[in-house]
Amino acid sequence: MATERTLDVGCGINKLRGSIGIDRNPRSKADVLCDLDRFPYPFRDNSFSRLQAIHVIEHVSDVIHTMEEFHRLVAAGGTIFLATPHYTDFSSFCDPTHRWHLNSFSFRYFGSDNAGYGYYSNVRLREKKVRVRLLALWRYLGFELMVNASTRFRRFWEHYLCYVVRGKVMEFEFEVLK
Ligand SMILES: C[S@@+](CC[C@H](N)C(=O)[O-])C[C@H]1O[C@@H](n2cnc3c(N)ncnc32)[C@H](O)[C@@H]1O
Repeated sequence: MATERTLDVGCGINKLRGSIGIDRNPRSKADVLCDLDRFPYPFRDNSFSRLQAIHVIEHVSDVIHTMEEFHRLVAAGGTIFLATPHYTDFSSFCDPTHRWHLNSFSFRYFGSDNAGYGYYSNVRLREKKVRVRLLALWRYLGFELMVNASTRFRRFWEHYLCYVVRGKVMEFEFEVLK
């Protein structure tokens, strides 16, 4: 891998220590001010070994294009980490700056295990980890463990249970394939 550098996209005031932060807000801790809806971001291809976007993807204008840009910036074998609210969380619809309300399968279109492979995008990401956090009550009752125990049960939860057993934050880790 070319470099061991981390890009913290939409870093806000909580920029990851040692990373390069980008954000459009001049009051943030960003090292580079840029608008995530304007492409390309001001870095060369494969500039980073890791990219994180924590509570950011739900704010951008085009999720697919943004993920393609993340893919461009991270070298093959590098990692993209996303955290974003599950659409059943209070925060998902409460914040009027959220444009997207996502579930734990929303990024499958970049992977090989779905019917849309190659249709939305040519970019390839291998889903290494998906973790769904649930509201505290459900976590204490053991539902969080079950939801994360298998993709099959997570799918069942998304289809049948999530309007009652509500989600909170989802965390995704992808390996960049090139
Ligand atoms: C909810 S905050 C998250 C901040 C930080 N990642 C954290 O976890 O504390 C979303 C951040 O994304 C930035 N952001 C949202 N849309 C953006 C855009 N189009 N261009 C650049 N930054 C954007 C905001 O300025 C804000 O700092």
